[in-house]
Amino acid sequence: MAKSVVILGTQWGDEGKGKIVDLLAHDVDAVVRFQGGHNAGHTLVIDGQKTVLHVIPSGVLTPKARCLVGNGVVVSPKSLLKEIAGLEQQGVEVKSRLGLSPACPVILRYHEALDLAREKKRGKSAIGTTGRGIGPAYEDKVVRHGLRLADLVDEARLRGKLEPLLDYYNFMLVNYFGQEALSVSEVADEALEYGRLISPMLMDITGQLHDLRDRGAKILYEGAQGALLDIDHGTYPYVTSSNTTIGGVMTGAGMAPGDIDYVLGITKAYSTRVGGGPFPTELHDEVGALIAERGNEFGSTTGRPRRCGWLDAVALKRMVRTSGITGLCLTKLDVLDSFSEVKICVEYEGVSDFPIGAEDWDRLRPVYESHQGWSGSTQGITDRSQLPAKACEYLDRIEALVGVPIDILSTGPERGANIIFRDPFGAS
Ligand code: GDP
Ligand code: IMO
Ligand code: MG
Repeated sequence: MAKSVVILGTQWGDEGKGKIVDLLAHDVDAVVRFQGGHNAGHTLVIDGQKTVLHVIPSGVLTPKARCLVGNGVVVSPKSLLKEIAGLEQQGVEVKSRLGLSPACPVILRYHEALDLAREKKRGKSAIGTTGRGIGPAYEDKVVRHGLRLADLVDEARLRGKLEPLLDYYNFMLVNYFGQEALSVSEVADEALEYGRLISPMLMDITGQLHDLRDRGAKILYEGAQGALLDIDHGTYPYVTSSNTTIGGVMTGAGMAPGDIDYVLGITKAYSTRVGGGPFPTELHDEVGALIAERGNEFGSTTGRPRRCGWLDAVALKRMVRTSGITGLCLTKLDVLDSFSEVKICVEYEGVSDFPIGAEDWDRLRPVYESHQGWSGSTQGITDRSQLPAKACEYLDRIEALVGVPIDILSTGPERGANIIFRDPFGAS
């Protein structure tokens, strides 16, 4: 019986991770975020009511689950407190169920200012970040001068660290980026107030997870972004600043590989990407526009339109192997209903080595396999016998190309719109 399940995006994010975490969270003891920050936007739709979560784990709408945020997550206390307030206004109890690692790197105003200033300076080659300060916060951590949540609850420590830090960043903001300097005392006062508000939620998350694991509890790890946005394995430099593939669970929660029983890869039936960077199967025609319209492809965090294209089975197979994915959950199949033809990229023309960076990715020419579409609707179906034969053929072909089974099929945004072929928690 699988007790620890990891959910990862296998493309460029927005695959539908939040929906599936919520679906599987009903009977788990803890849902854990381990990387990323409030660049994520995870959408849950329950009885027609939509909730978008950014840092709070997507188990929050199921009463039993504890919601834990591991050390690998970069936390903007301002955004987190706003998210908590929004949920509590809806009557959802959050504070007593939320645990934050004191080791989480903190995102403050200067990270956001640097993110925006860098993007502006990059001009046409901008990454298209979410502007949330994610990259600069991870930079601070790796350079080893960054603030962590624990620093916000100790005034002397905070002021002592913040002063030289802002001295450095203000120099950069003013002299290199031509932006305004930030006031040290204002940032420090703000940070201390955040510290006061979040201090009851600070706890040893890794220790709690070890205890839960030792007791045989069910744990669900919730990835943010997607494998192709991984800082090491994605379309560098058009990536995010964390490891979105399996290693992120180990470093970002403090668990060992043997603590994971099942890895569920979430994959859209087609591909989307928001922001800049290579996208071999992108469609610039009316088919791409139709996918965007039917799939309502707008970013959950920034509202930007998502670029759309066909499923890329070459990249998917690589990411499945990289993260040791046990089974897939294919989402948004319903968006392709009534297309006369659906295509899958099965090869990159004349290329055998997997691309390692944007320059390689830009040169790729996808080779497509064409499949006849299906005429019936798959929207909201929960019974496999209702799947049109041609849709089954599409699923079979994906499994054959990628080498792992589709264990869950998502057929709509609602929590209950799924066909579960094999329950990840039930798998041995
Ligand atoms: P995440 O970041 O991976 O959690 O995904 P997002 O929430 O950013 O984007 C996925 C979008 O697709 C959301 O609006 C979901 O409500 C929606 N969605 C999820 N699964 C399905 C599905 O099977 N069909 C359709 N039509 N929409 C879905
Ligand atoms: P979820 O968890 C889709 C993209 C940004 C940009 C790049 C770097 O909802 O799937 P960043 O702000 O992280 O420095 O931006 O990564 N990006 C996402 N795209 N879904 C996300 O999260 C994303 N989080 C970041 O658009 O291209
Ligand atoms: Mg999203």
